[in-house]
Amino acid sequence: MDGVSMPENQFPRAGRLPLPLPSGRFVQRSIARACRQTLQTESEPAVSAPKNPGSRRRLESQRETQRALQRELRQGLMQPVAQISPKFFYDERGCALFEQITRLPEYYPTRTEDAIMARYEQAMVEAMAPCQVLIELGAGNCEKVRRLCRSLAPRQFVGVDIAADFLARSVQRLEQDFAPMAARAVAADFTQDWALPADVPRAGRLLFYPGSSIGNFDPDQAQRMLARMRGLLGDDGALLIGIDLPKPREVLIAAYDDAQGVTAAFNSNALQHVNSVLGSDFDLQDWAHEARFDTSCSRVEMHLRALRPVIVGWPQGLRQFAEGETIHTENSYKYPLGEFLGMLSRAGFDRKRVWTDAQNWYAVIHAHA
Ligand SMILES: C[S@@+](CC[C@H](N)C(=O)[O-])C[C@H]1O[C@@H](n2cnc3c(N)ncnc32)[C@H](O)[C@@H]1O
Repeated sequence: MDGVSMPENQFPRAGRLPLPLPSGRFVQRSIARACRQTLQTESEPAVSAPKNPGSRRRLESQRETQRALQRELRQGLMQPVAQISPKFFYDERGCALFEQITRLPEYYPTRTEDAIMARYEQAMVEAMAPCQVLIELGAGNCEKVRRLCRSLAPRQFVGVDIAADFLARSVQRLEQDFAPMAARAVAADFTQDWALPADVPRAGRLLFYPGSSIGNFDPDQAQRMLARMRGLLGDDGALLIGIDLPKPREVLIAAYDDAQGVTAAFNSNALQHVNSVLGSDFDLQDWAHEARFDTSCSRVEMHLRALRPVIVGWPQGLRQFAEGETIHTENSYKYPLGEFLGMLSRAGFDRKRVWTDAQNWYAVIHAHA
């Protein structure tokens, strides 16, 4: 592993870096950047403490979240193959780029899922009604849930997403368009311990998890995530989930490496987001987007490949990357339908109904608790 993590106050200085360094102007530039980091400390907003105890608690909790994200990033970047969780795609620009991706000709999942939901809407409504509380995980722009709001007319909608501001705006639009349905936004990170607000009624819940986002988790994590979802439901609750199925490699690669380069911009933008969270100095020009298919794991992988030797610094650490070395930013598992249905059963979902497209590229599953 080409990395070092430094104890506090022992930042690198030019000329005495604790690593053998490759030469070249990019490395020089990176050293300069790494050294500039010595002037910074782990960033916390320089604001005076609010007097109100509620605001103080909120501020402290935001700081703790920020510190946890920074810890996670440092750990990921120091792995033998450096990793950045896909949740770091979703700053404001990342959310906007993802919306563009969903409209690309190569990106079949959104189109296909939408076509399945349009075609089988009536049968789905019969399976799902009545629904009192519609909860969307990874709600993003809340576009997909509009169909369900129209056909199920729930009393309440709860959108959950890590992209707090983007979500808040989408939920506000939804509430205006679907009055008198109450709508609320819950900013949460599914990869951490999270909970719905205690006053969300437990009866009549429908969880909606579209977009094959479950594919971002490896099988063990996905199994735990499904069990967590089952735990959010009472015995009258259900899950409506979209999953992307295995298909020819070239279709998959094109979907994750489009001709216009939007997915490439989305992938590199994660580095920008990491810079703002961690105070690191990734230069996006040093990295190229790469999409691979790993047949043995049935997953598409997205990486960022160093175009030259690079040193990336952050407060209290740095990592040296050789030319060609990658940072792994996303997995997207393509679970075979039978395997996924088994995972749902193990998570405690008993009755399932499945709708697919003519090519069997995608499935929407209603799984009853
Ligand atoms: C691939 S997008 C899907 C958006 C939309 N649901 C759709 O299907 O088009 C994933 C969404 O999940 C959110 N997300 C990603 N990782 C998350 C996490 N760890 N916790 C909460 N939300 C997350 C992102 O902010 C984004 O809105």
